[in-house]
Amino acid sequence: MRKIRSIYSRMLNKKRGGFFQNSFIKALLFCMVLPVITGCVPEKKPDDEIKIGVCVYDQYDTFLTQLLECFDNEVNGNEVNGNVSVEYVYASQNQMTQNDQVEEMIEKGMDVICVNLVDRTAPTTIIDLARKNNVPIVFFNRELVGEDLMQWSKLYYVGADAYESGRLQGELAADVCKRNRIIIDKNGDGLIQYVVLEGEAGHQDSIIRTEYSVNTMIDMGIEVEKIGYAIANWNRAQAQTKMAQLIERNGDEIEVVLANNDDMALGAVDAYESAGVPKTERPAVFGIDGTDVGLKAVADGSMRGTVYNDKEGQAEAMYKLAIALANNDDPDELGLVDGKYKRLPYTIVDVRNVDDYLEKK
Ligand code: BGC
Repeated sequence: MRKIRSIYSRMLNKKRGGFFQNSFIKALLFCMVLPVITGCVPEKKPDDEIKIGVCVYDQYDTFLTQLLECFDNEVNGNEVNGNVSVEYVYASQNQMTQNDQVEEMIEKGMDVICVNLVDRTAPTTIIDLARKNNVPIVFFNRELVGEDLMQWSKLYYVGADAYESGRLQGELAADVCKRNRIIIDKNGDGLIQYVVLEGEAGHQDSIIRTEYSVNTMIDMGIEVEKIGYAIANWNRAQAQTKMAQLIERNGDEIEVVLANNDDMALGAVDAYESAGVPKTERPAVFGIDGTDVGLKAVADGSMRGTVYNDKEGQAEAMYKLAIALANNDDPDELGLVDGKYKRLPYTIVDVRNVDDYLEKK
């Protein structure tokens, strides 16, 4: 594979030098241009190299880092259809940077690009570039609005159902509260006083998870009282700082912490740790994702539970879809919803089944 890559980069270097003097390259160019003129795109030969570009909104996101590890496992474990090479780039939370990165990926001849948008409401530049150059895009994790996905036939989305994650977190929290009423309702007022740690404003998973988690608890008969909330942008350190402020304001009134992801749930645990609150006096903390650290925290009891965000399933779907698109195969064989969406189900993880998930590793 490395050899193919170096041949390819030598060809690129030639392109910059005395390109038109070389008659071999001229013939090659003719062969490449002919199908475009005649309008027929050649089927990929099974032994062709497939080049996949992966553009990620930020390099410091725990869940995405683990999702990409799974993606890498797919690439390395499935040497089907010839050589597959992957290139990853990170946009440091800047949409303009990501637009440039996608353009560079197209110039480098990627067959398909997987995009984790920085701003899920601003995909237009990327869609225009993709359509102009006929490069399919698999968006993942940060879901663009339906109308944007319909802008061109070769746009897809792989992720999960945000509503389901909120509902399951609510079910989990309600179940734990019912089974441990006396311990969790510390002040014995019959209400569960809770705080919420929210992900990035504008992210589909923040808005929806919070709303559905709380409403499900209420639907399941838990009487709740919201006593605080903070946005911590999916980030453990930010969550620790925000949680420390919430503890200062509310003291031991907080009975439940609903965090939109595991990293923020762990930030809450960190805040209680630094405040020196003994484990038995802390609120019940719930996360979402089932990251390695999140699962360990469920196993050791510092988190009461999480909702597993199936990174293995998402990585597999992204990989299979990317390969199908690169090979001009029909992606519908992968069971896409509306020919566009692949959403993997979430599952509840608590102390009773956490070992099954830890074993997945
Ligand atoms: C995950 C978060 C992650 C975010 C990034 C969410 O689905 O639950 O942990 O930070 O995606 O977009």
